[in-house]
Amino acid sequence: MDVNPIRIAIVGVGNCASSLIQGIHYYRDKKPEDAIGLMHWKVGGYGPSDIKVVAAFDIDSRKVGRDVHEAIFAEPNCTTVFQPDLPASGVKVSMGAILDGYSEHMADHPAQRSFVKADAREADMDAVVKILKDSGTEILMNYLPVGSEEATRFYAECALKAGVAFVNCIPVFIASDPEWADRFARKGIPLVGDDIKAQLGATITHRVLTDLFARRGVKLERTYQLNTGGNTDFLNMLNQSRLASKRESKTEAVQAVAAKRLEEQDIHVGPSDYVPWQKDNKVCFLRMEGKLFGDVPMNLELRLSVEDSPNSAGVAIDMIRCAKLALLNGKGGVLDAASAYFCKHPPRQMTDDQAYTEVEKFIAQSSRQTKAA
Ligand SMILES: NC(=O)c1ccc[n+]([C@@H]2O[C@H](COP(=O)([O-])OP(=O)(O)OC[C@H]3O[C@@H](n4cnc5c(N)ncnc54)[C@H](O)[C@@H]3O)[C@@H](O)[C@H]2O)c1
Repeated sequence: MDVNPIRIAIVGVGNCASSLIQGIHYYRDKKPEDAIGLMHWKVGGYGPSDIKVVAAFDIDSRKVGRDVHEAIFAEPNCTTVFQPDLPASGVKVSMGAILDGYSEHMADHPAQRSFVKADAREADMDAVVKILKDSGTEILMNYLPVGSEEATRFYAECALKAGVAFVNCIPVFIASDPEWADRFARKGIPLVGDDIKAQLGATITHRVLTDLFARRGVKLERTYQLNTGGNTDFLNMLNQSRLASKRESKTEAVQAVAAKRLEEQDIHVGPSDYVPWQKDNKVCFLRMEGKLFGDVPMNLELRLSVEDSPNSAGVAIDMIRCAKLALLNGKGGVLDAASAYFCKHPPRQMTDDQAYTEVEKFIAQSSRQTKAA
């Protein structure tokens, strides 16, 4: 079945956006049986390449005004290039609204590893809404830096005004804030969030192991998850004042599947340090201490090394396709199953097994309704 591509706009043309856009093109000439790295080949008839970027916003001088397919390879982006050949997209990156997207400590680091503010005039809400409407955007993807509280609310408001779905990949609470969730529900606009959960990253690994302890009757007594990386995400997160929601989102993702919630002093989960030479490689050091039969102590140590941004892109492709199914079926408000399966901080936490079952049910039901319509 040939379908019209799903029209998305991107806020924050950083490493995650780069992997997503490269992936859309990488899978174009692949067959489902050869395609590695995707949880679903088709969702509701849409393949991984049936997605088109029709608008993009950034605030970095090396990205604003450039074709989005060039901008994703501009500094300070540093993720793996697995699809270097991209045709011009014909879509220029528009200047966004800076607000709190830029943290002042970024200026203390070399330009090639940090953000450089563009001189262009900042967009106001009317300008962003106009671009979203004129481009025929259906879904707005939020990839702002951690701690962009005001900026995320600004773009979420733009999505509401323009009537486009909002996929919130970052730990600012929109889907998990009842007021925002209600506003999207009342306008009949789909919302997925918050804080994307990577394909095989620290969070899902830590959750599955925590669930395993619970199911096998092992008492989890203490745990930490330390993460280091060298991309702008990790550089931005050196500013501790931007981290409150990130820590809450990552910690809650683990607490939610524990047999018994751990005391605050017994769980430490978070971004831990910035190591420039690691670039987009993220390393997670995980330790879990518990007690087995007869109160006999045990512990587990794990080291996980992944390229951070491609690790989220396949998940983003599924979030986009679920949001599109909701649009086709007139379903507004938070998509509970998709948010629980694809995000760290959904409004309603589920175990990953439950969330998987629920999301498959949502996809099957919505696809049937779409066909029937
Ligand atoms: N990689 C993952 O698996 C993963 C998982 C969970 C969450 N995330 C989150 O996704 C977000 C994006 O990650 P990334 O690695 O692409 O970050 P990045 O630093 O590479 O990109 C952020 C982009 O936002 C731009 N920006 C800053 N302020 C802006 C504004 N006001 N308006 C428009 N653009 C602005 C920057 O110039 C930059 O291009 C981060 O918050 C990250 O924590 C990523």
